Amino acid sequence: MAKTGKSVLLDCDPGIDDAVAILLGLASPEISFVGITTVAGNVDLGCTTENALRVAALGGGLDIPVYPGCPKAILGAPPPAAHVHGNDGLGGVRLEPGGMAQAEHGVQALLRIPGEVEDLSLVAIGPLTNLAVMLTQEPEVAGRIGRTVIMGGGIDGGNVTPAAEFNIHFDPEAARAVFESRLRPVLVPLDLTRKAAVYEDWIDRLRAVGTPVARSASGMMDFYLEAVRHRGLGMIIHDATALAVEIWPELFDVRPARIQIVTDHGPERGRTRVDFDSSEPNGSVAVDLDAPTFTARLFERLALL
Ligand code: RIB
Ligand code: CA
Repeated sequence: MAKTGKSVLLDCDPGIDDAVAILLGLASPEISFVGITTVAGNVDLGCTTENALRVAALGGGLDIPVYPGCPKAILGAPPPAAHVHGNDGLGGVRLEPGGMAQAEHGVQALLRIPGEVEDLSLVAIGPLTNLAVMLTQEPEVAGRIGRTVIMGGGIDGGNVTPAAEFNIHFDPEAARAVFESRLRPVLVPLDLTRKAAVYEDWIDRLRAVGTPVARSASGMMDFYLEAVRHRGLGMIIHDATALAVEIWPELFDVRPARIQIVTDHGPERGRTRVDFDSSEPNGSVAVDLDAPTFTARLFERLALL
């Protein structure tokens, strides 16, 4: 398939909302995936990697190389999120086998690809272990990456503890290394993603489209919505919202900020502290979006894939 649009390297831990993000990216001519790197997070690395292969194949991206990355957090992994994504990471939805993972380690791919692709967008939608190891091995790689977008953090609290969001909480040391680097990422926190939740009616309409992508995506989203029903927030497609910053930037309001990660071993561990008034911003934060337009466009893209 001819490559069009912005070159995107996706670092992910599929994961149901990661799966929706991969499908959205494959359906969007504004971007082209030059590679997918996987990391332990929602489920273990073997599972996130197999899931990335299968979802990419489902969406017509069998040719996209998938590079397995780090199997655990820098200081050892807290529990995965199987209660939200299912033990298989895809809510029990069975997909056909995809291609084979690459032999090259994900961190090596993250170090190599920026030197080969002009103006690369790195979109990270899982724990930041791979990015931190990349930056530790070669800090200068930050200067070869055009833009970095990260799904993570919560200004007004977390989703795995009152203080911390899952991706940051899984590896706070990695997140701290990323925000202390020269990457200067765009952070897409829970405060933003919560604005673009979908509910049964949206999922049922997608299921009614009847294609293999629509049936699989809606089946995964059913599982996720049931798992988080008690929160009363709907199905928040965190990772697809983050990727959309690169597909439809005009839908988002992004502001410079200084972002700091709490790495103490206590109840605050993994909190993201954001200062919009800092004179020394180290990144920016997506603070608002046109949610109805985003969810309508997401539906259209998934329905046409
Ligand atoms: O907190 C939401 C994030 O954690 C998403 O990326 C989800 O896939 C999980 O990784
Ligand atoms: Ca994820």
